[in-house]
Amino acid sequence: MKPYEKIIVALDVKMEKEALALVKKLKGKAGVFKIGKELFTACGPAIVKKIQKLGGKVFLDLKFHDIPNTVAKAVAQASKLGVYMMTVHTSGGFEMMQAAVKAAKENSQKGKEPIILGVTVLTSLDDKALKEIGFKYNPAQMVLRLAKLAKKAGVRGIVSSPKEVKILRKSLGKEMFLVTPGIRPLWAAAGDQKRIMTPKDAVRAGADYMVIGRPITAHKNPAEAADLIVGEI
Ligand code: C5P
Repeated sequence: MKPYEKIIVALDVKMEKEALALVKKLKGKAGVFKIGKELFTACGPAIVKKIQKLGGKVFLDLKFHDIPNTVAKAVAQASKLGVYMMTVHTSGGFEMMQAAVKAAKENSQKGKEPIILGVTVLTSLDDKALKEIGFKYNPAQMVLRLAKLAKKAGVRGIVSSPKEVKILRKSLGKEMFLVTPGIRPLWAAAGDQKRIMTPKDAVRAGADYMVIGRPITAHKNPAEAADLIVGEI
């Protein structure tokens, strides 16, 4: 894997024009482009196709969480779109994750099966918030528990904060992809991110992919920002 392929650019914009402009600027400078709920809700599946037409791989980050049948059907549609990666909530349960994995296999072209990633505990939930919704474990315990369950269900990777990468790598082994947001090069503003790590440290800890938004997208020259990050990796 080349260093630039580790960079997933978060296209946190609502207009197709802005998203496509970023993809054009970052072609060959980042491996994957992440479409989240805002962009997808605003532009629909057409935006996936348009990014692919420009040569970009797509990470469809819609964090599916529903009954197994419903999630499987949504994953099937995303697989037919040819996305490279997509997310499901691990707290949807073992059966739901298995259904997602199966749907991805059955609805993609051979060798082009999307990577299903599991989201464990949202980083916006702290100990108190977890207790409030009825969980008895703390966030760190929950993350490990859910990540192991995801692996057992055939999910191929986990999205986690950079601070959790080391422990996840240790307990999940080499084959699981670890994808981490909260990345900030030393020269970038932290913004609202609290538990951050530099690209170099995240890779050193064992991250396969890094989701990077504003340090690249809000930079006056996004291509230059991506180059700086590649240099650091
Ligand atoms: O701009 P920034 O680099 O903070 O963007 C990070 C991206 O990763 C955003 O799309 C954000 O929603 C996503 N993300 C995150 N923290 C998580 C999960 C996802 O920042 N725990």
